[in-house]
Amino acid sequence: MVRDISNSISKFHKISIAPMMDCTDKHFRLIMRKISSRALLYTEMIVAQSLIYTDNKEKFLNFNNEEHPLSIQFGGDNPEHLKEAAKMAQDWGYDEINFNVGCPSSRVSAGNFGASLMNHPSKVARCIEALKNNCDLPITIKHRIGVDNNDSFSNLNNFVRQISNAGTERFTIHARKAFLKGLNPKENRNIPPLRYDIVERLKNENPRLIIEINGGFTDINKCIDGLKIFDGVMIGRSAYKYPLRWKNIDSQIYGEKFLPLKASDIIFSLLPYIENHLNKKKKSWDICKHLINIVESIPNAKKWRNKISLLSINETLSIEKLIILTDELKSMGY
Ligand SMILES: Cc1cc2nc3c(=O)[nH]c(=O)nc-3n(C[C@H](O)[C@H](O)[C@H](O)COP(=O)(O)O)c2cc1C
Repeated sequence: MVRDISNSISKFHKISIAPMMDCTDKHFRLIMRKISSRALLYTEMIVAQSLIYTDNKEKFLNFNNEEHPLSIQFGGDNPEHLKEAAKMAQDWGYDEINFNVGCPSSRVSAGNFGASLMNHPSKVARCIEALKNNCDLPITIKHRIGVDNNDSFSNLNNFVRQISNAGTERFTIHARKAFLKGLNPKENRNIPPLRYDIVERLKNENPRLIIEINGGFTDINKCIDGLKIFDGVMIGRSAYKYPLRWKNIDSQIYGEKFLPLKASDIIFSLLPYIENHLNKKKKSWDICKHLINIVESIPNAKKWRNKISLLSINETLSIEKLIILTDELKSMGY
């Protein structure tokens, strides 16, 4: 497959939408792309080993062409698996590979990858090298500021320096440490305090490293402040729960003309895509579970979302019904 380099990756992506399991699938990414033409998008984490052994690679790898620039995130700890995964990512047309060293889930830690790899920088370096030496894509990493008792600044500093030497082009740092025992993944995203100051010190001591900050960015002004210190800001939950609140990314961050995008505009623009999905006998809920999030902060939003959800879950949401419901939104000015 030929890569469309016109829209391909830059090391300096000022804003990205975080990889989130069960959230950032290709449908959500397409919705998000309607909201920002510039933000870097990520897949959900794909375990390299699962990708290699599955007979259904399309399920893991397919995406819509409009999603570029798009980074594929891999989890794993076996350089041989990552080597094969890197080749597939390139063949499939992704713009970048991101390596996950931040996931604290017990299942992932039991496989000795995700955040637990922060305890093994040499192993991470070998994984990065395996990715780098087997494709031409930029290799980036997403990690925490520490895990368990391994939380000193010097360890973090040594970690990024070693990983940088292995060829990592950008560091996305979730500014919390992870507790591998005692906290579940959700708690690990909320309980450990955010320490932007530690990531700032890391940037100051390593000014040539490209560092993207992540954790707790909930509005564009906070991102603009973050960009005064860091090279990029990654937005997670807030983009998933309130996608349309981010409609000024292109204008405020990238200086493009502001387009007053409404929820109904997005849904109308997605109708051919949804119709095509339904024609393949797939479920409308696959798309609607994400789409309903763009209808919020307006009168009767909950009622509207419930209507769509009910029809969609009962598999009785036709395109005609969706048009009627979206017309309702439009007539209310949304
Ligand atoms: C439902 C959910 C799934 C997540 N899955 C991933 C994942 O697959 N890979 C990853 O690196 N981080 C994952 N994360 C963490 C986010 O990428 C991000 O680091 C975290 O939510 C903090 O950013 P935020 O405060 O902007 O949400 C996930 C977060 C959520 C809420």
